[in-house]
Amino acid sequence: MKGSLLYEGKAKKVYHVTDQPERLILSYKNDATAFNGKKKDQFEGKGRLNNLITSRVFDYLKLHHIPSHFIEALNDTEQLVEKTTIIPLEVVVRNVAAGSITRRLGIEEKTTFTPPIVEIFYKKDELDDPIINDVHAYHLTDVSEQELTRIKEMALTINEHLIELFKEAGLQLVDFKLEFGRLKDGTIVLADEISPDTCRLWDLESGQKLDKDVFREGIGNLIETYELILQRLEENTCAK
Ligand code: C5P
Repeated sequence: MKGSLLYEGKAKKVYHVTDQPERLILSYKNDATAFNGKKKDQFEGKGRLNNLITSRVFDYLKLHHIPSHFIEALNDTEQLVEKTTIIPLEVVVRNVAAGSITRRLGIEEKTTFTPPIVEIFYKKDELDDPIINDVHAYHLTDVSEQELTRIKEMALTINEHLIELFKEAGLQLVDFKLEFGRLKDGTIVLADEISPDTCRLWDLESGQKLDKDVFREGIGNLIETYELILQRLEENTCAK
């Protein structure tokens, strides 16, 4: 049963689970934020879409033996997860240039990266989540060199699975952000969410942007876009 509120973030609320101290309930909110909270809005139904999309993606990754915090979707907006201590790193994998890398390094949008690029950012709102290198990460977090290598390997393996999943849904996986957390015994597992809020997804045929960039850039209807992603994943047998 849902217990007291532990934490409220920009996109989710986190609740204790009564009589299951090693589990949490994530409740997805309707809020959308971009540019580190500088642009904000609310979209009726967004929490449901991100919960259902994330649940499908994590179920698919579970089938492919990716260890994660995810247990099950409980209802339209909530999911049950293992409690982890989040490592304050945002691990971004890029298959195609878009977003911050185009501005930071002057790389033209749509440039393909082979092999994919893995970047790490320090998850710290007050600093606007700066990009960091591995040695920064050892200083700023409790991850060891070996663990960071493993995290990056996991991120690249997850990328391979997600490319396949989204391709079957007629979508190109441009880039995405992952977070990892530690279980009570110290094991590092995939955590947080994987949704159109945290991935860039382009229609394979038209190249149309079908992710949070519709909100960031004000170029489309967020709910219709996320609904389309869920529908395509539902039609896709490889996500079942
Ligand atoms: O902004 P940037 O281009 O670095 O984002 C790369 C990927 O990571 C995008 O898919 C974006 O949605 C995701 N991201 C995220 N949360 C952040 C920063 C980036 O989900 N705080």
